[in-house]
Amino acid sequence: MIVTTKKLFEAAYGKYAIGAYNINNLEQTMGLFRGNLDSQAPFIIQISKGARTYTHKLMLEGLIRTADQVFPEAVFAVHLDHGDEQTCYDCISSGFYSSVMIDASQQPFEKNIEITRRVVDAAHAKGIVVEAELGQLGGVEEHVKVSEADAKLTDPAQAKEFVERSGCDSLACAIGTSHGAFKFSGTQGLHFEVLEELQKRLPGFPLVMHGSSSVPQEEVERINKAGGKMAGAKGVDATQFRRAAQLGVTKINIDTDGRLVWTRVHREFFRDYPEKFDLRDPGKIFMAEYAKFIAEKNGYLGSAGQLGAVRAMLAK
Ligand code: G3H
Ligand code: 13P
Ligand code: ZN
Repeated sequence: MIVTTKKLFEAAYGKYAIGAYNINNLEQTMGLFRGNLDSQAPFIIQISKGARTYTHKLMLEGLIRTADQVFPEAVFAVHLDHGDEQTCYDCISSGFYSSVMIDASQQPFEKNIEITRRVVDAAHAKGIVVEAELGQLGGVEEHVKVSEADAKLTDPAQAKEFVERSGCDSLACAIGTSHGAFKFSGTQGLHFEVLEELQKRLPGFPLVMHGSSSVPQEEVERINKAGGKMAGAKGVDATQFRRAAQLGVTKINIDTDGRLVWTRVHREFFRDYPEKFDLRDPGKIFMAEYAKFIAEKNGYLGSAGQLGAVRAMLAK
């Protein structure tokens, strides 16, 4: 069942965070649904601009609609990840997405508000909710390159004004994370003091944490042992998700870790079975491993085991 992120956030706020997972293909879609049902978790499917153009924008839509029929128990939102204004309008008019992200975070404050407000007005007219972003993450985003040194944490005072004037339904904030597999070079970590201040100024308002992959070191070691070159990759400590959730983070974005699962499975498979060439052989292993990975993440997020309560809330 496709729902808005707003509904999921109402159930989760202050208690746990919903996992927002990026998908690109059939195998990820299968593993995603299985893993969320195995762990009885509501979830958010994220589709990036890159994922929409990897094959055809209707292809993932078709896969997700079918998965909804194959797994009727699942409760999830379909969300555009890091949209520009035009892509937001395309998703809003498609009638498929329940939520869009307008990422105008690279724009000056006033311009960010102006663009976000336009998207919010178009989305709300159709019952679709909007995530916006204020502050800048380090690392590389789809259309934005922000060097680690220039990364700007979200200013809580500005955040309150931004939310009030833009009308957005949730806010992605920069609290020290970055996208990709190389997040921290030293002892940097999450800036909980920024989250505390954000929650004080925006009580009850859903916050979003991007760049939240953990880049598990066992995974990186296995990839490197099987021929990969990912020395120095480092991510966010997943045991910190619960504290972030208590401080108002209701959506935690994870993409890179799923890519690491794919890379490890395929590198190890072809190292161990160099004579094989049937794509379904590693594909089957990947779907099972991806489902396991999703279920484990949901354990850290606290969303595991919440599906029954969410279904009951939706039935009221
Ligand atoms: O934040 C970006 C997501 O990880 C999506 O990545 O743009 O390569 O699909 P992508
Ligand atoms: P990671 O690169 O840490 O998985 O972050 C994903 C993300 O923020 C997608 O919007
Ligand atoms: Zn992101």
